[in-house]
Amino acid sequence: MGYYYMPGDYRIIHHPIIDFRRGRRIRFYYNDRVVEAYEGESILAALYAIGYRVFSYSPDGRRPRGAFCMIGKCSSCLSIVDGVPNTRICITPVREGARVYSQKGIPEIPHKLRVEPVETKTIKTDVLVIGGGPAGLQAALTLADEGFDVVLVDDHPRLGGQLVKQTHRFFGARRFYGGVRGFRIAEKLSKNVLERDNIHVYTQALAYGFFKEGVVGVAVRGGKPLNLIVKPKAVIGSTGACERTILFENNDLPGVMGAGGAQTLMNEYGVRPGDRAFIVGSGNVGLIVAYQLLQAGVRVLGMAEILPHIGGWFVHAAKIRRLGVKIYTKHTVTRAIGRDRVEKAVISMIDEKYQPIPGSEKVFDIDLLLLAVGLQPNYSLFSQAGTVMKYVPEIGGLVPIRTYYMETSVKNLYIAGDASGIEEATTAFIEGEIAALTIALKLGDDRSGVEKRRDQLVDYLWREYRMSPVVERARRGKLKVTVSEEDMEKIRRGELDGF
Ligand SMILES: Cc1cc2nc3c(=O)[nH]c(=O)nc-3n(C[C@H](O)[C@H](O)[C@H](O)COP(=O)(O)OP(=O)(O)OC[C@H]3O[C@@H](n4cnc5c(N)ncnc54)[C@H](O)[C@@H]3O)c2cc1C
Ligand code: FES
Repeated sequence: MGYYYMPGDYRIIHHPIIDFRRGRRIRFYYNDRVVEAYEGESILAALYAIGYRVFSYSPDGRRPRGAFCMIGKCSSCLSIVDGVPNTRICITPVREGARVYSQKGIPEIPHKLRVEPVETKTIKTDVLVIGGGPAGLQAALTLADEGFDVVLVDDHPRLGGQLVKQTHRFFGARRFYGGVRGFRIAEKLSKNVLERDNIHVYTQALAYGFFKEGVVGVAVRGGKPLNLIVKPKAVIGSTGACERTILFENNDLPGVMGAGGAQTLMNEYGVRPGDRAFIVGSGNVGLIVAYQLLQAGVRVLGMAEILPHIGGWFVHAAKIRRLGVKIYTKHTVTRAIGRDRVEKAVISMIDEKYQPIPGSEKVFDIDLLLLAVGLQPNYSLFSQAGTVMKYVPEIGGLVPIRTYYMETSVKNLYIAGDASGIEEATTAFIEGEIAALTIALKLGDDRSGVEKRRDQLVDYLWREYRMSPVVERARRGKLKVTVSEEDMEKIRRGELDGF
């Protein structure tokens, strides 16, 4: 369907939607062999493109590990880069002459490593935004428009979060980019952010911890490494989400990957993730990724859905069914088979207790088994900061309790987007803007116009957008963790436990 490849190479040359403009050709060493890559690719994408599938091994050194999340959130790709162990090569860009080794088990401390002293820089700002996805970008732009100084950090080399890899037109309200392709939204917002003098952007910059008096530590890896100490008046955490896995035999075989991980390879780096795929989970993510794989020339041999019905939108399911993909409802994956990469997937029908029915197994010859089984909010920073948390299955698990204005139980720490509970980009934009306007109200002088805009948005979110039956489950979940400002004060004083 319009994709072409260089022979012997998994790189996509022509794409119907994305123009992959690759950077300069460079060389680096992988396990002492010379490897050619393009500037701008991650080390893992460059290796995947020429056929590598095993990147590290389990702590006992026995089980091979491949790519899973592709956004630096699991530990599947830990490698030794220029002597530094435990480096996540899925988010580390290739560099001319770099020496990369796969890591087998727990690494040794690199005693001989010659490390340049890392500069420490302390900066004061009005607001620190952690995460440059739709929630963080919208928040930063809103604050900049109100005249505040903003520092925006993101651990990925590019801004845009999940949007970067979405080639389809987004559903949702027009005023929040409904109908526009995800990566185009990312391009537009990133450009706007980078043009602002009062937004200071750091990419490849991981916010690693909160310290006393509201100080946040950020490790900047891009370019010259920098230890950034940020002293903001307020923080918005818009750290997004990561993909879940499920329990089955050999679920760690290389080639068993998150559906979003495959999307990153395919749509961000232009690398075909495999030849024959099977997908577990028929929510919108699974359905959309199935279509994108088909476009990429990957055969999709089927999808398994544990529920008796398809999880995502009918329109997406109809599209892939027309292209011959069978969706096995009331089925789940029970086993992956292979030595150092996945070769077969076994699925079974389930009974009314969701247990596999013996004898109902179906086996598929594959080299890619994608899990589209849900996302989990990236809550670790909030947990470390000491916010009161609650487990809410409807929105992906553990999330901080917050007010309707997105402030958590830690004063001046706000949350927005998927980190606050899994929904979609439209709500991420809205929550980011609500948090930003609330901070603008607090830090500014006379801002009655700001208050009106903020309250209109809160109204729109709760009384209009989340009233749609399509998002009913998420609404239920968010209601369980959203409290009034008065109740939040009681939670802070320990008079109410938040549960
Ligand atoms: C396949 C698929 C299809 C989708 N389709 C749609 C659709 O059609 N319409 C729609 O509205 N939504 C859609 N979504 C959902 C949408 O993409 C997400 O809901 C949205 O991107 C969430 O935005 P966010 O800003 O909260 O998080 P993200 O976009 O995940 O961004 C979070 C950012 O934070 C960074 N980060 C995380 N931790 C740290 C840290 N400690 N330090 C620094 N940076 C950090 C990450 O690198 C990332 O860049 C889709 C999602 C997927 C996976
Ligand atoms: S951390 Fe690299 S694949 Fe997950």
